[in-house]
Amino acid sequence: MKNNLLTHNIMIHPKLADALNAQIAQELTASYSYLGMSTYFDEQSLDGFASWMLNQHNEEQEHAMKLLTYLQDRGGSVSLAAIPSPRVTFSTPLEVFKISLEMECENTKSINELYELALKLNDHATKSHLQWFLDEQVEEEKSMEDVIALLERIGDDTAGLLYMDDKLGQRKAEEE
Ligand code: FEO
Repeated sequence: MKNNLLTHNIMIHPKLADALNAQIAQELTASYSYLGMSTYFDEQSLDGFASWMLNQHNEEQEHAMKLLTYLQDRGGSVSLAAIPSPRVTFSTPLEVFKISLEMECENTKSINELYELALKLNDHATKSHLQWFLDEQVEEEKSMEDVIALLERIGDDTAGLLYMDDKLGQRKAEEE
């Protein structure tokens, strides 16, 4: 995966490498945040929500690895930033999902900025690689919005919350 005779032609621009490194840190930060949320749900005995968030945690790690492998394939230097400790206490499930949506919107913004930089630097391979992330963000934001809408309808109804817990627990990794 490292440099070969074609390195001169395919080496990624240092600005883009820096931006990709920042994005890797952002994906890992999201991953760690979702792990914190999963812990919160586990403590509330909401196992379905906890499992859903654990799945989210795994997905974010996969996103980071997709970017990291790409950066390596393009001859860029990987710099692994420190990841801050995530929150593990929240007031309600609804609060957790509102924070998650905000996080995903921030992530969409930074993927868009990354794409714009690749566009400016005429890096077509990076644009192509980022296309998957742009599509993924649409899905991520939608899934958060869907859960928020349901939680808002449920309000304080415990039976409704337990029903949702059951539904979310059925999420399978391959479906996401
Ligand atoms: Fe990797 Fe949820 O964005």
